[in-house]
Amino acid sequence: IRDNAESASSYVADYIVNRINSFSPTQTRPFVLGLPTGSSPLGIYKCLVEKYKAGLVSFENVITFNMDEYVALPPTHPQSYASFMHDNFFSQVNIPPQNTNLLNGLAPDLAAECSRYEAKIAAAGGIDLFLAGLGEDGHLAFNEPGSSLASRTRVVVLAEDTILANSRFFDDDVNKVPQLALTVGVKTVLEAREVLMIVLGAKKARALKKCVEGGVSSMWTGSALQMHERATVICDEEAAGEL
Ligand code: GLP
Repeated sequence: IRDNAESASSYVADYIVNRINSFSPTQTRPFVLGLPTGSSPLGIYKCLVEKYKAGLVSFENVITFNMDEYVALPPTHPQSYASFMHDNFFSQVNIPPQNTNLLNGLAPDLAAECSRYEAKIAAAGGIDLFLAGLGEDGHLAFNEPGSSLASRTRVVVLAEDTILANSRFFDDDVNKVPQLALTVGVKTVLEAREVLMIVLGAKKARALKKCVEGGVSSMWTGSALQMHERATVICDEEAAGEL
């Protein structure tokens, strides 16, 4: 628990830089990083870009896999997660474009796209560190309440609460928010060697309480991290308000 969002974000950025820097010299394969979108990780991306510009880290030997993407939004749409990642991170660091992976919400066969993604994660050697956010309804990636804790990458219907929460990015119009998304599954996240979850703000306090002090439940999919051997939650005072 850190005092504020800034200090929580810089803690996570330091942590990731440390992992990348201690990994590279000893391994023949690249470091594999799972990444989220949303407002919570924005401060982390900002810190990572600053550290890259200061010469403290290189992303040349890093492969990334994003957690989720809307269905039917073109990657060039300003609210697609592809645009988000390009604008806030990829275009500002030295990661080779071919090392960045996102689910393609325009794929003609969405189920095949999800299988392709899982296979690509496996071919990369699995995810070393998955950074995650937490939805107000406790979702991990787009694994909405009721998602199986054994779920894998798949097409999902977004919950009404999520559509409402994300409408702030779509002119506050719920009708403009895509109703479907592609997401890695809870099991996909649990298979990462390590998971960090960033949780910021009073709006997340209830979800955080359910996820860390409640039982493991498919109704609060973030609670699945309780079963991971190496999971860390980093939150600010506001998000910790109900603990
Ligand atoms: C979105 C994303 C999640 C993210 C969550 C929280 O719906 N699919 O991966 O963790 O909501 O977003 P924010 O950080 O903006 O609250």
